[in-house]
Amino acid sequence: MTATTLEAADRAHAFHPQTNLARHAETGPFVIARGAGVWLEDADGRRFLDGMAGLWCVGLGYGEPRLVEAARRQLETLSYGHGFGGRAHAPGIRLAEELAALLPEGLTRVFFASSGSEANDTAVKLAWYHWVARGEPERTRILARRRAYHGVTIAAASLTGLPMMHGGFHLPRPFVHHLTAPHRVQQARDGETEAEFTARLAAELEETIDRLGASTIAAFIAEPVIGAGGVIVPPEGYFAAIRPILRRHGILLIADEVITGFGRLGPMWGSTALGLAPDILTCAKMLTSGYQPLSAVCVSDAVFAPILEESGRRGGFGHGFTYSGHPVACAVAREVLALFAERDILGHVAAVAPRFQRGLAQLGQSPRVREARGLGLVGGLEMRAPADAARLEAAARAEGLIVRAVGGDTVALCPPLVITPAEIDDMLDRLARAFDRLDDA
Ligand SMILES: Cc1ncc(COP(=O)(O)O)c(C=O)c1O
Repeated sequence: MTATTLEAADRAHAFHPQTNLARHAETGPFVIARGAGVWLEDADGRRFLDGMAGLWCVGLGYGEPRLVEAARRQLETLSYGHGFGGRAHAPGIRLAEELAALLPEGLTRVFFASSGSEANDTAVKLAWYHWVARGEPERTRILARRRAYHGVTIAAASLTGLPMMHGGFHLPRPFVHHLTAPHRVQQARDGETEAEFTARLAAELEETIDRLGASTIAAFIAEPVIGAGGVIVPPEGYFAAIRPILRRHGILLIADEVITGFGRLGPMWGSTALGLAPDILTCAKMLTSGYQPLSAVCVSDAVFAPILEESGRRGGFGHGFTYSGHPVACAVAREVLALFAERDILGHVAAVAPRFQRGLAQLGQSPRVREARGLGLVGGLEMRAPADAARLEAAARAEGLIVRAVGGDTVALCPPLVITPAEIDDMLDRLARAFDRLDDA
């Protein structure tokens, strides 16, 4: 097929996710043909530095031969396998074991699904099942935050705190209660210090629990750093302030590490970087470097033990997917973990992240930018005029750089973890030229 007929077929038949479909009908698709390392190439041979690692997922870059080979080997050995009724296969068992060894302290058991949304839906169902098992079935509410992004299935979209994910879908469902976004530049009051803002958010949590009743609340869910809602780094001391409140009221903490897991913020887990100590942790994306759809819900013994007993009483645990722990996805994930160790990916992130954050802060000096923020190898530029975010994304593309407008006002950068210092400089230069384009327009 030539590029033109591909485009025509897309316009005629493709139904795009997370797309302005009306605009797309006029503009048509942006067709990517191939990728290698941090680079993508479109159907016309134009190259783009992928400053978003796909959708925050291609941690090890495109076309890594070791991952290709791991998938090929597993496809030949056992191309499909499942875990229903106690069935198992070596890649799934070994991955659960290897992942458990890396998890934040206290998390020991791993349930597999295919996407971040499925993982978060599963986390909600596990929290519910857990409380039913413990004789507190009225604990059904889940606390979440505005501007959080947890996915798009009915439960995950309800947890999400972005109006675009709710409008037209009869969402959020009423079991979710949203709290203030931990977003200092937008939510802190005039004259309020960072510490005072943190204290106010903690007080809001305490008041909400008192008002709704702790006995009605199953869990609180949070991304360590909010990603798709605008790369929002919480104020100093935020998790240290809310963690004891949740513990005191017996409310489970679910850490959504779909973006922050596997070194995005520096350490292996955002939970460690920001001090969450979760009872349940969900991860996906960089677990396979985006090469295969795979997510994991990781729980503590204390969460798991009542679930185990309840499944015995009921004669089964009624949850699981056809593709839970797909052997090819698990084989690729195992190879990702092996490469993390062999190539010291976390050491690389620690070495290059300061260069990235410094460059971002410099771009933040532009009068168009309200705040530059980030941690590790993720960053965001919140624009003073929200419309500038989409304009900057378009200008960057014209400069051969892919970034993404998120949360309605912020341009996100989240490059592959393997990006080199020279590629970081190249990425930031391209973004600087994109700013020039906005100024010249
Ligand atoms: C923090 C977070 N949670 C959940 C999801 C949903 O993942 P998926 O798109 O795989 O369903 C995303 C996707 O970007 C995410 O960023």
